[in-house]
Amino acid sequence: MSNLQGKFALVTGAGRGIGAATAKKLTDAGARVLVNDLDADVAQQVADELPGAIAYPADLTELDAGDRLVEAGIEAFGGLDIIVNNAGYIWHSAIHNMSDEQWDAMLDIHVSAQFRVLRAYGRWLRGNADSSSHVRKVVNISSTMGLHGGATQLAYSAGKAAVVGLTRTLAKEWGRFNVTVNAVAFGAIDTRLTSPYETEPNISMVKGQPRKVGLSHQQIEQASLASPLGRIGTAEDAANAIYLMCAPESNWITGEVILASGGVRS
Ligand SMILES: NC(=O)c1ccc[n+]([C@@H]2O[C@H](COP(=O)([O-])OP(=O)(O)OC[C@H]3O[C@@H](n4cnc5c(N)ncnc54)[C@H](O)[C@@H]3O)[C@@H](O)[C@H]2O)c1
Repeated sequence: MSNLQGKFALVTGAGRGIGAATAKKLTDAGARVLVNDLDADVAQQVADELPGAIAYPADLTELDAGDRLVEAGIEAFGGLDIIVNNAGYIWHSAIHNMSDEQWDAMLDIHVSAQFRVLRAYGRWLRGNADSSSHVRKVVNISSTMGLHGGATQLAYSAGKAAVVGLTRTLAKEWGRFNVTVNAVAFGAIDTRLTSPYETEPNISMVKGQPRKVGLSHQQIEQASLASPLGRIGTAEDAANAIYLMCAPESNWITGEVILASGGVRS
């Protein structure tokens, strides 16, 4: 399959999990990928394994990171055809225990970081896009939590819901540049965010602070049982859904939220 031959893509949070699987999927389809992650070592490892890929470590919560990242992609490739806004993490608690820092951190990474990458891309697009047959793609990552809510996931859910507004608005603004803008909302996907923390505590470093991520065995079992398919998704399942919104076959689909949840609808 090489239907993304000659395309240049930026994938954020591509050092592991869904982002890494997406970088691989897009590369397998012929694209060259700028691999961003907060963690330089994993970004480099992923880029080293993918022909034509380049690592660009950056913390997207830094105010100028979106500008630097988009600039790096344009400098390296001469342009960007695909943006996958994927970087993120979880930091949950019930509202009465939720600090301002926690609330701000979730909105910062899940919506402000996407906004700043897309603003930088939009500035470049204005001078470089045309309404010819060259279709460009933006895929923003949301979650079933953003569509349906999730107990103890207030800030995360609010951030992922905001991604829907961002997506639908830019689909309207950027149609004239021939850019499709869609969101993919995932149900539970098997990455370190959902791996069992009883056996192997997973730590995500956030601004130098360790944050425990993961789910209990019971939560993982519940998520599997909730799906008519009887399992949670793999990172490859997730990457396949993102790929669909990057492929030319989705050129007439824009402003949509694609639910990739193994059939879970609540
Ligand atoms: N795993 C799930 O069940 C699930 C479900 C719905 C949505 N999502 C979303 O999918 C996306 C990917 O999550 P994942 O499950 O692959 O998690 P993951 O932890 O495996 O990968 C996320 C990557 O994002 C990077 N990242 C985090 N903060 C960053 C920052 N400030 N700047 C740059 N990179 C940063 C991390 O270093 C990590 O490598 C997230 O937006 C997440 O909210 C995941």
